[in-house]
Amino acid sequence: MRLGFLLPCITVLLVTGNVCRLAQNSSALPLSTSSRWIVDESGRRVKLACVNWVSHLEPVVVEGMGKQPLDTISKKIAAMGFNCVRLTWPLFLVTNDSLAGLTVRQSFQALGLIESVAAIQVNNPDLLNLTLIQAFKAVVSNLADNDIMVILDNHISKPGWCCSNFDGNGFFGDKYFDAEEWIKGLTKMATMFNGSPNVVGMSLRNELRGPKQGVTEWYRYMQRGAEAVHSANPNVLVILSGLSFDNDLSYLSKKPVELTFQGKLVFELHWYAFSDGQAWANGNPNQVCGRVAGNVMRRAGFLLDQGWPLFLSEFGLD
Ligand SMILES: *[C@@H]1O[C@H](CO)[C@@H](O)[C@H](O)[C@H]1NC(C)=O
Ligand SMILES: *[C@@H]1O[C@H](CO)[C@@H](O)[C@H](O)[C@H]1NC(C)=O
Ligand SMILES: *[C@@H]1O[C@H](CO)[C@@H](O)[C@H](O)[C@H]1NC(C)=O
Repeated sequence: MRLGFLLPCITVLLVTGNVCRLAQNSSALPLSTSSRWIVDESGRRVKLACVNWVSHLEPVVVEGMGKQPLDTISKKIAAMGFNCVRLTWPLFLVTNDSLAGLTVRQSFQALGLIESVAAIQVNNPDLLNLTLIQAFKAVVSNLADNDIMVILDNHISKPGWCCSNFDGNGFFGDKYFDAEEWIKGLTKMATMFNGSPNVVGMSLRNELRGPKQGVTEWYRYMQRGAEAVHSANPNVLVILSGLSFDNDLSYLSKKPVELTFQGKLVFELHWYAFSDGQAWANGNPNQVCGRVAGNVMRRAGFLLDQGWPLFLSEFGLD
């Protein structure tokens, strides 16, 4: 597939109703894998119905804190039938102590978002004087109080909108994406939430992409990242994103990932209508559907037949 020059990475709120509506009963954590399924401690299948909640933009605070109290939003997520949040974070939150040490107030003020500070003062006064890392922990902890599982998703390095091929965050060796710093950050995050049972998984890096992307480097670094996370926190599922904006895991059909541990590895896939350009707008829907579904199976869906869970972590259409 040819990707657009700038492919926006839209992190959608997955409010798709019944499609995602699942058992509300909480699972015995931690989770692990059994062939293509994710299961709980008692071996019962667990379906992740996650909402993406963004905390990787410039303020490095989950969106919406000026709109509703944190606990109200968490309860709304559960009430809508979701059992999980894919919580995004920028790498620099854990590798830059000056960033992590800013208070929520300072972070918004530095961006000139004075009205947001006033709105957070109304809806979440307790958050304003917390540092960014404390606020991030407060969100995870509130989700735990509401029985919601969390997947920590390293979305980007430098806080901001994600993703383009040329934003310096796309692949190992890009301006803001140093492999050693990434391993260090993953280890820190995994360690920080070892002991938080509702943190059930870590997505190692969102949408690998860009001119530097390569299969050899993908295996080298993703395997290292996976090992680092697992040794810092053996409870979490380790979730690997593919190349080309997480549209392509086809190389795994020939060469599996090699890890020292078992029962924790999950792959993730993104599937947007705009990834196929104007195909849906211009083509015969039956033909486009057949072709696109076939491509998705060839690039990622085959993993299910190989006995790996596949997490559809972003999808959407205009
Ligand atoms: C949830 O738990 C209740 C009580 O244990 C049980 O009756 C019900 O079948 C469970 N639901 C699902 C979907 O597992
Ligand atoms: C660390 O974060 C601070 C505060 O946002 C910023 O001023 C500084 O440039 C960052 N340092 C690096 C090396 O990115
Ligand atoms: C939060 O910090 C501000 C100064 O930035 C201070 O005036 C205020 O009293 C603090 N609030 C709490 C609850 O500590």
